[in-house]
Parts: sequence; structure tokens; C-alpha cells
Amino acid sequence: MTSMPGVVGSAAADYSSSDSLGTSAAQTRSAAVEDLIRQDPGRFRVLTGDRPTGQLHLGHYFGTLHNRVRLQDLGVEMFVLIADYQVLTDRDVADHLVEHVEGLVLDYLAIGIDPDQSTVFAHSAIPALNQLLLPFLSLVSVAELGRNPTVKDEIAHSRQSAVSGLMFTYPAHQAADILFCKANLVPVGQDQLPHLELTRSIARRFNDRYGTGAGLFPEPDALLSDAPLLLGTDGTKMSKSRGNAIALAASADETARLIRGAKTDADRHITYDPVNRPEVSSLVLLAALCLGRDPHQIADDIGNAGAATLKNTVSEAVNEYLAPIRARRKQLAQDRGLIRQVLREGNERATAVADATLTDVRAAMNSVY
Ligand code: TRP
Repeated sequence: MTSMPGVVGSAAADYSSSDSLGTSAAQTRSAAVEDLIRQDPGRFRVLTGDRPTGQLHLGHYFGTLHNRVRLQDLGVEMFVLIADYQVLTDRDVADHLVEHVEGLVLDYLAIGIDPDQSTVFAHSAIPALNQLLLPFLSLVSVAELGRNPTVKDEIAHSRQSAVSGLMFTYPAHQAADILFCKANLVPVGQDQLPHLELTRSIARRFNDRYGTGAGLFPEPDALLSDAPLLLGTDGTKMSKSRGNAIALAASADETARLIRGAKTDADRHITYDPVNRPEVSSLVLLAALCLGRDPHQIADDIGNAGAATLKNTVSEAVNEYLAPIRARRKQLAQDRGLIRQVLREGNERATAVADATLTDVRAAMNSVY
């Protein structure tokens, strides 16, 4: 298998001088990458994924899912990972795992991920991917793992009384998720940047240590989403675990009820002002995203009609936008065999790719017996 060089490093030399994925550097890189995608989607291989901890919601949809379908439809090769081992980072048991995994596959198919074009797989099912963790762990220091700000934050919010070894080491496992298929592009939110930085370090160190010439592994770039953050119905970040999310799979009635209960503020006049009026503005934004309109115009249209009118507008917009996705999801849900088949075939494809990479790794490490 030929290796893919880090895309920006080779094609946009201006950006390669910074080897840090600080936010603004990552934004600059992302803009450059978007240009390259338009020119030549075939040079990219994307790895993206989710933890199967619950239902995907509107925050996921407008944050990343929508973008995955866009990239796929532009002709970018895509691997979509269901990170089932990663569920065990902050809890002892992965509850309802089969239900959540099948739910993710359903959501992916319903929004337009095409299993003929994109490989949907679960990392626990790919032995050679997991085996990469061992050499990768040898390339990172304990201090480095302990410094990871996303891991620190997750430890602070963990529901476990003791921090497990997996919590500290999962970013190295995430590097295996990305590098097993030599992905060169990873669409991420801000919180994932430290993990991507570690992945880049591991790729670079492996290439340096084992002298693999042009580089066995690419140093993947982040593709930062420019979608603004959607708030949940309680005014904090929309999140599976906070009970404040509107699931893609929710019914129209449930959606309307959740939106009716969403937090707003005392000012009857509706404006779009995310800094000073985050809750109202997030609702306006949600309507704008669903209607493909400018949020300021939507706020102007509602004006003095108040929060109840805003909420009606949002409910209608969301339900109308999601109707075809929900209909497709419902139909697909009747064929469990199909869901299992998509996963089985995805696992098979991912296994073949992981096996090839492990063969390269063994050769590089001089451990072919
Ligand atoms: N950490 C990601 C999350 O919490 C899921 C994930 C696992 C992932 N492996 C990945 C994302 C590799 C991108 C690339 O949502």
C-alpha cells in the first residue's frame, strides 16, 4: 500500500511550518484543505467517528454529520468509525451497546452515508487496528498523556470513582483509529484537536524511529467544522449525556415538546445576538440552519411576536427538515439484517486495510518471523 503524505504539508508549504494544531493554525489549515478538496477530492482519505453512547442529535448533525455526507458526495474516500471500546473511558460498562451501535448505523444511512462509498465499522472488530496500539504507546510519554486537556476535562466529569488506564491511553488508541487506514484528514471539533496532535506526533515519530523513508504514516490534518455550536434545551452545550438534546430519531411531537420547553429569556423582542442572548439565538440559528436562511432575517421576521412564535417556527423548521431523514430511518429500522450486513461488510473492508498496514508496520519494525 502506498503511503499518503500529509496533505497540507506537501501541497501548501506555507502552513507546514507550524507543526502545532493550535486553534487558529488549525483553522488556517482547514481553509487550505477545503480548497484542495474542491480541486482533487481523490487525494483525501477521511476517518471520522462517534462513541456509541446514545442517539445522535441535531448538534451532531449540524456539527459534523452533515459535513461527512458533503465530503462523501464530493468524492472523498471515507471511513466512519463506531468507537465502541472508547465508551469505556469514563464508565465501567457500555450500556445498551448493540442498540446504540445499530442506532448509529441507522442514523448514518438515514442522513445519506452510502455504505458502498464509505466504510462503516466498529473498532473492536478490527484486530490489526488494535494491535497498532502497542507500538504507538511506546512512542508517547506518560507526561504527554497526562497533559492532554480533553482527557483532563473528561476525568473531571467522569462517572467513575477511579481513573482507568484506558482513559489515559485512549488518545493513542484514537491514533490507531486514524492511522490504521492512513487517513490524511480528520473532521473534528475543537475538543479533538489534542488527540489529533498526538496522532501527528505518533505518525512522525514512527516514521523517524523506524526509518520508513517517505513515511509509512501520513500526518493527518484536522478539518475544523465552521458550524456554530448549537445549545441544548437547557442553554448548555447540546449533549447526549445531559438530556438536553433533540435526537434525529425523535418524533415530530417529541421534537415540538422539547423545543416548547427550551430555555429563553425575558425579552419578548426576538433578535439574533449569540453573545448576549445565547439561548434565543441558538433557537434562531437552528431554524436558520434548517431553512437555509440568514438568522438575522429570521429574528427580524419574528420581531415582537415573542418566544412562543419563535419556538413554533423552530419546531416546524426542524420537523420539516428531518422528515425525510426520519422516514428513511424508520423504513431502514425494519430491516435489522441490513444494518448488520452494513457493519459486517464495513468490518471486513476495514480489517483488510488494517491487516495491510500491520504488515507494513511489522516490516518497518523488523518483526517478520
Ligand atoms: N473521540 C471521539 C468522540 O468522543 C470519537 C472518536 C474515536 C474519533 N476515534 C476517533 C473521532 C478518531 C475522530 C477520529 O466523539
